[in-house]
Amino acid sequence: MGKRPANTPFSAILTARLARRDFLKGSLATAVAAALPNVGCTTAPSAGPVPIAFTAIPPSTDDVLKITPEYEATVFFRWGDAVGIPGNMPAFKLDASNTAAEQEAQAGMHHDGMWYFPLPYGAGTSAHGLLAMNHEYLDDGLLHPDGRKTWNAEKVRKSQAAVGVSVIEVRSDGGRWQIVRPSRYARRITARTPCAIAGPGAGADAMKTAFDPAGREVLGTYNGCANGWTPWGTYLTCEENWNFFFVNAGAPTPELQRYGVGKSRGYGWELHDERFDAAKHPNEPNRFGWIVEIDPYDSSSKPVKRTAMGRVKHEGACPAIGADRRIAFYMGDDEAFEYIYKFVTRRPWDPARRDANRELLDEGTLYAAKFNADGTGEWLALEHGRNGLTAANGFASQADVLVKTRQAGDRVGATSMDRPEWCAVHPVTREVYVTLTNSTERGGQGRPAPDAANPRANNLFGHILRWREDGDDVAATRFRWDLFALGGVPENPDPAKRGRFKGDAFGCPDGLWFDRRGVLWVQTDISSTGLNRGDYAPLGNNQLLAADPATAVFKRFLVGPRGCEITGFTMTPDGRTAFVNIQHPGELGGELNDPDAPRKNSNWPDFDPTGRPRSATVLIRKKDGGVIGT
Ligand code: FEO
Ligand code: CA
Ligand code: CA
Repeated sequence: MGKRPANTPFSAILTARLARRDFLKGSLATAVAAALPNVGCTTAPSAGPVPIAFTAIPPSTDDVLKITPEYEATVFFRWGDAVGIPGNMPAFKLDASNTAAEQEAQAGMHHDGMWYFPLPYGAGTSAHGLLAMNHEYLDDGLLHPDGRKTWNAEKVRKSQAAVGVSVIEVRSDGGRWQIVRPSRYARRITARTPCAIAGPGAGADAMKTAFDPAGREVLGTYNGCANGWTPWGTYLTCEENWNFFFVNAGAPTPELQRYGVGKSRGYGWELHDERFDAAKHPNEPNRFGWIVEIDPYDSSSKPVKRTAMGRVKHEGACPAIGADRRIAFYMGDDEAFEYIYKFVTRRPWDPARRDANRELLDEGTLYAAKFNADGTGEWLALEHGRNGLTAANGFASQADVLVKTRQAGDRVGATSMDRPEWCAVHPVTREVYVTLTNSTERGGQGRPAPDAANPRANNLFGHILRWREDGDDVAATRFRWDLFALGGVPENPDPAKRGRFKGDAFGCPDGLWFDRRGVLWVQTDISSTGLNRGDYAPLGNNQLLAADPATAVFKRFLVGPRGCEITGFTMTPDGRTAFVNIQHPGELGGELNDPDAPRKNSNWPDFDPTGRPRSATVLIRKKDGGVIGT
């Protein structure tokens, strides 16, 4: 915790780092793009300015999805739609009266991170593939016909089935896409699905519970927010706000407090599944907060929690493939004042033998980022015995370091960030971009002061920062960074709220994704309580924008329906089909337990007066069939 420096005005902090914007440009048309799997784009990626040709659209507060006029957007896969498990394809009931068993075969709620995997594996096809996606959290008010007015074991089971991951098979016939049902790939992973525990945490004392004395298997993954992928064709779901599902009536230990496991009722799971009562089962929370690897090509495969990659409130795991085929994964921990992490595999991945990569994520080095005021940065190893991570300082082993990743970050002196969310790696330059979605506490009493990497106190609109590894080596331990853009409205007279970029206004950047041409697609998440109110009002509903990394020009591509968040944007390898997730339409704050409130705010996408708003995947095509963004 520090005090605001008395003699460094905000504008000086800001301009120092924005002025360095040109440092990343230049010469690096290296061969790294050739290392990307499934390259199928018809337009070569570029390190220079990239043309973005669509017509930008204005903000909107309407309860409809709006997209630039050269494109069409089609609702594709909604909460409650059958995933396509053979012999088990229940229809969604508009009054939400589906049973828990039916929900286990249907899309979960609150679609989030998403990735397209070509079929067959390694083919690079753009007309047939698998979509894997997260169902981050749930809304009991919508999930059950009477919300939480009554509560029982069946409701808990349905609630646990409404989160996790879906895998669906998708196919295009000349641009007309459909979900293949039934499909042998179709799958739901829920809060009850057995997952293996692998890496240094497997079998560690902190991972053992009454239900799993060996500490090697945990039921379920949930709160997967952003996502990741590997070049060997696996999907990574990243456990974020898992703590809210635990209650803790006992004395709060520092470990539980550091991860926000509180006393509140949360989602009521503990009433019928006692492992979510941390007072009774204090190690159960240690089994959440991990990166979970899923093989979408094998619906019988067991998800694996990869403990070597650390335990935080994960927000994605974006890979960068090194020249030696070792892989770095960049990861945010989405909470105010938390850290940015990198995991570097010890071994290279093997493109020739898929199975040889099965345990690649179990060995490597986890680092936390330190951003220096002079534009340099350091990756600080979270390795037992180094950087003060010793038994004398409370870290008994590497497993202990990993279970207490946040405390290890504290110990090594990582930089507290303004809610680090998604990372994205430029396809040519390997620059890494990260969203810092917002923070309303920086500069407050007893809180860290603004610094070069987080220059705004009360950072309402968030920012996007980027770095470049020294020597363009993904395993480097030093990097250089600058601020790419500060969110806000460019016309706002208050410099702390004024957008610092060119083009269309945006706030609270969250989802981030690079297409193969090098366009940075930015998805916003202005919170339910802020949406369309106060300082945020000029921005309207949450939106998807395209940005040019070379010029910081932003163009608004899509605006979501009322009360939603935009997330999960991804494309097929040819760049001609995109998928985006519309999460929690109708969520405007304060109504989460009221089954009637969200549908007063939104009836998207069914617009049926007896129905409910539903998160959904939307399919996007250019009307002329061209590459998206050109
Ligand atoms: Fe689930 Fe950090 O957003
Ligand atoms: Ca997010
Ligand atoms: Ca968010």
